[in-house]
Amino acid sequence: MTPLGLFDSGYGGLTILKSIHDLMPQYDYVYLGDNARAPYGVKDYDTVYEYTLQAIRKLFEMGCPLVILACNTASAKALRTIQQTFIANEHPDKRVLGVIRPTAEIVGQFTRTGHVGIFATPGTINSESYNIEINHFYPQCKVTGLACPEWVPLVESGEYKTQVADVKIKRQIECLLSTDGDIDTIILGCTHYPFLYEKIRKYCPDNIQILSQGKYIADSLKNYLNRHTDIDNKLSRGSTCIYYTTDKADIISNRASVFLNNDIIFKNIQL
Ligand code: DGL
Repeated sequence: MTPLGLFDSGYGGLTILKSIHDLMPQYDYVYLGDNARAPYGVKDYDTVYEYTLQAIRKLFEMGCPLVILACNTASAKALRTIQQTFIANEHPDKRVLGVIRPTAEIVGQFTRTGHVGIFATPGTINSESYNIEINHFYPQCKVTGLACPEWVPLVESGEYKTQVADVKIKRQIECLLSTDGDIDTIILGCTHYPFLYEKIRKYCPDNIQILSQGKYIADSLKNYLNRHTDIDNKLSRGSTCIYYTTDKADIISNRASVFLNNDIIFKNIQL
């Protein structure tokens, strides 16, 4: 089997996998969540790079010709170096893709004011990757990012349905909109945040569009595979999904099944 691999620090990448799988159910998929070491968003560059590299090595060992970093933090901090060194030197026949560029690419289809807000982890915001990528495609766009260090722990701990989450989410929305009142489009620039979508929607004014990445990453990947038939031909088509976590498999399986309203069975793996 030569599956398509997806990697995230924890549950977040499942939101991306769901969209990709809905669009292209024919492929085999392997999901790897490093739940035991999440969150990544508050870790330094070297740590995120090292952990991401370990995960990619593991997914390559499992036979993946293509790995999607379904994690903005890893895409922001590790992707470029991994492509330029590890892939170029050791695995020129394989590919690793991120989630920031395909998201940045489509934002111009949504904003009318040209003012865009980003909610993401401290790692992603501090890297300024969204500002750079969006301004690459849309130089006139004004991009305002806000780090939300408390949001990933809300998801990983399962606390995101409580009132505590409402308070934390409302506070960040007010903070972002007080920085730039002309924002009409907000990108959820962390793959964990779609689990918070309903609460974010509840506290955002109706005129603001909130973009979850899943659909756009899936569309962009389909387009990539159509253009890169050499990679596409390497992917096996058995319609299977295997899930690995670095944490306790039974706990992660239970939570993921509730999050996605679907039975998901994780196996434990060591990186
Ligand atoms: N879900 C990841 C992201 O998109 C990482 C979150 C974290 O571990 O802090 O940024």
